[in-house]
Amino acid sequence: MRFLVLLACLLATCLAHKPHPCASPPLLSGGLTVSTQNEKLWTYAKYLYDGIGHRVRIMELGAYENKSFTYDALLLYREAVMYEIHEHNHTCIKKPFKAEFHPVGIPKDASLLGQVVLGSSSGPGQGLLVNSWMGDIPEQSGKYIATVTEFGCIPVSLAYQTKDYGWMVTSYFNNVIGIEDPDRLNPPSFCQDAEIKDGQEEPVDFLSLFLNKN
Ligand SMILES: *[C@@H]1O[C@H](CO)[C@@H](O)[C@H](O)[C@H]1NC(C)=O
Ligand SMILES: *[C@@H]1O[C@H](CO)[C@@H](O)[C@H](O)[C@H]1NC(C)=O
Repeated sequence: MRFLVLLACLLATCLAHKPHPCASPPLLSGGLTVSTQNEKLWTYAKYLYDGIGHRVRIMELGAYENKSFTYDALLLYREAVMYEIHEHNHTCIKKPFKAEFHPVGIPKDASLLGQVVLGSSSGPGQGLLVNSWMGDIPEQSGKYIATVTEFGCIPVSLAYQTKDYGWMVTSYFNNVIGIEDPDRLNPPSFCQDAEIKDGQEEPVDFLSLFLNKN
């Protein structure tokens, strides 16, 4: 009897609950991979995300056109600058950075593609309930598909269309809510003197962060 009541409640909550666009936690850190449909790029990175101060730190290991690289960048959206940080020799390059800050999460105008279980629902701990959404990328043509967990709105993957590289796919893993070392979202002390070079006019945008490797 108790089981039946429990089952009825579960069914009721399931039926009552339709996924809604959601905001992800404003402070996140973890790992991610990025790859492009044209196979030119893959990266494996650690990230720190501050959705309140609009700051992102990304520490990448990857390959572009078969050439491997490491890259450590701090993106300050509000100040429209970015720092390329070379910890090993304590140097820093400051560049103008132009990109809209899009908070992690699901925009209100997204349309639901569906709710699915990643992994398996056959046993405890084997599956992850996620919602996938699709929408138009703001300010340019193309679509995105974003997947977040049903519980907590934690990012799972983001795919979006780019003109030159096809679908660009980011997969998130090992996400943790919060930022253990907030200092890494400030320019290191050895960056204080970094100046934007004269004639460094072309602001870097978010995509070219990953793609302009020479
Ligand atoms: C990367 O390496 C693969 C295999 O060695 C080769 O087929 C491909 O043309 C290379 N791609 C580029 C962009 O150099
Ligand atoms: C520091 O390291 C970076 C990346 O390896 C290099 O491009 C840069 O020239 C180095 N700077 C100095 C002053 O040695």
